[in-house]
Amino acid sequence: MRAGVTVATMKNLETVAKHLYCRTLGIVSRSEHPYATHLPVLVGVASAFQPQMVLEFGSGDFSTLTFLDKVAFPSVLRVDSYENNLEWLQHLQTKLADNPRVACHYFDGRMKDVVSGDIVEAADLIFIDDSPTGWERAHTVKKVARICSERQLTIVHDYDLPGIRVACRKFEHRFSFTSFTPQCCAVWNGDPQRKTLLEGVALRLQENAAHLDVVDARGWAKVFCPNSQIDSIRAIPSEI
Ligand SMILES: C[S@@+](CC[C@H](N)C(=O)[O-])C[C@H]1O[C@@H](n2cnc3c(N)ncnc32)[C@H](O)[C@@H]1O
Repeated sequence: MRAGVTVATMKNLETVAKHLYCRTLGIVSRSEHPYATHLPVLVGVASAFQPQMVLEFGSGDFSTLTFLDKVAFPSVLRVDSYENNLEWLQHLQTKLADNPRVACHYFDGRMKDVVSGDIVEAADLIFIDDSPTGWERAHTVKKVARICSERQLTIVHDYDLPGIRVACRKFEHRFSFTSFTPQCCAVWNGDPQRKTLLEGVALRLQENAAHLDVVDARGWAKVFCPNSQIDSIRAIPSEI
């Protein structure tokens, strides 16, 4: 009986602790598409910063394929995507149809070990969404923080996870996007003024979060480039 009470008490305490954690960090209800909540953030950030060279750790439909959509990411000229799950990468490559603007790189090891000055140097925008656990991804975040210069802006997915949150503190600056859960965080070294542009992106995300699906890349492109002639279609076009 006493053990039963103790278990119930522990569960209640856990629920209260989780509630307080979410409230303190501004964590809203989890999205129906938890693997895609970075998509609106990336569209907005790309519209504000116009990156040409994108470097990504952790490949997939909602990032690699979407970066290649010229309507959602008109400034992007090249995407270098690093993946350490061969099966997953091969599956993705069948959808890329030898697109000359993307290079998929398989790395046999922990993602943090592929991060080097050589590959980071050329990037304008870095997206970190690798590995099956936040703890493993946190190592990638720390390594990028150590290596990148003041040029790159990095977006980290799943910022609401404690390990990733702590890892992001290795950068000089952080700006979190809280309209969707899982959250994203923009991190960078150097110019603190970047925050002003990021605040503008966050405002648009907040204004549209209730009525626009996170996977509607072109819908989000319309939000951030209202003068462009874009038909809001949910699917990523085949002519990437
Ligand atoms: C969150 S996923 C990366 C998603 C990708 N960045 C995107 O936006 O589509 C993190 C890692 O999980 C692994 N993975 C394995 N199977 C997967 C699956 N069915 N869906 C997504 N990721 C998978 C891959 O190694 C991948 O890099």
